[in-house]
Amino acid sequence: MNSLSRHFEELYGRKPEVIAEAPGRVNLIGEHIDYSEGFVLPFAIADRTYAAIAKRDDGLVRIASQQRRERIFSIDIKDVKPGSAGDWEKYVLGVIWSLEVSSGFDIFIDGHVPAGAGLSSSAALECSVAFALNHLCNLNKSLTDLARATQRAENDYVGMPCGIMDQSVSLMAAAGSALLLDCRDLSTELIPFDVASAGMELLIIDTAAHHALVDGGYAERRASCESAAQKLQVKSMRELNLKDLEAGKERLTETEYIRARHAVTEIARVLDAVVALRTSDFLKLGSLINQSHNSLRDDYTVSCPELDCAVDASLGAGALGSRMVGGGFGGSAIALVKVSDIDNVKNAVLQAFERAHYKKPRFFTSLPSAGAQLTDY
Ligand code: GLA
Repeated sequence: MNSLSRHFEELYGRKPEVIAEAPGRVNLIGEHIDYSEGFVLPFAIADRTYAAIAKRDDGLVRIASQQRRERIFSIDIKDVKPGSAGDWEKYVLGVIWSLEVSSGFDIFIDGHVPAGAGLSSSAALECSVAFALNHLCNLNKSLTDLARATQRAENDYVGMPCGIMDQSVSLMAAAGSALLLDCRDLSTELIPFDVASAGMELLIIDTAAHHALVDGGYAERRASCESAAQKLQVKSMRELNLKDLEAGKERLTETEYIRARHAVTEIARVLDAVVALRTSDFLKLGSLINQSHNSLRDDYTVSCPELDCAVDASLGAGALGSRMVGGGFGGSAIALVKVSDIDNVKNAVLQAFERAHYKKPRFFTSLPSAGAQLTDY
């Protein structure tokens, strides 16, 4: 018997009826523009979260995890609504709530996406549960429906006003490609992303930093874009170009203006990055990645000293491009590096962190991997 089934059975005395897996993500480019209806270009990493589920007929929802086996969280399905009890379990409850399933469940989670590293362990958790429930309860929801439902779980149940990128890529990614996602209508295109055959690697550097600004800072950035859009009478930053932004500058506060400038230029960079990938122009891709970081650091101000240190050290040691990924204020950076320079880049980052007395960073690498699926793990 496979190991997740065995753990489920040890805990609940029965077998799971379904097991689904969903991956974490790295975003190549297109940061903080999903909630501005922009384009983003993330890919799924190999690390994933597994959700094993069986129905119960007494209305009880029980949740446990391989990582915290000491506790089984229990709640009546009638009490599954925003404001309920629960710690990390709220991500699971939020999905049950937003999919409007009414049965009880036994749920066992095994999470392998590093938490707190900005690699979307929360989306992996939400999407593994949503994918499993969709199958188990015959909900017949499309991946787009599931992306919207899991985003709603995070927005309205967990209380984090995230965009739609992380959940979409966790559900819709494909091995070997980055996912060009139009956040306006969730249409997608797979863009082959094969750095290995060009003698390169995409290094992921987890800075191990996590600054307190994370939640309030994210909401504040989102609010700035929304108020800029309102003042400039456009639906979102997607409908703005640099010329119109400059023309409307007087109507915006300085903060709104620089936030909008990031959004408008970042959306353009994503489309340029797609062209660079299609033509295997990795120098161009590297330069766009660098511009993205500068814009996130200077206009959007969501970087932090540890992320800047990782980026500067990587570039100093020969990386073609490097930038922070995800929400910012900590988490991970990526660096596009020639395979022959990988050790130099890692050493340079380690030394720079040591000199600055930061926590020791961790390095990962991952090929673009598949999105959520059923599994017998
Ligand atoms: C977090 C959010 C996403 C997105 C990124 C920034 O990961 O969950 O929706 O906004 O930050 O690009």
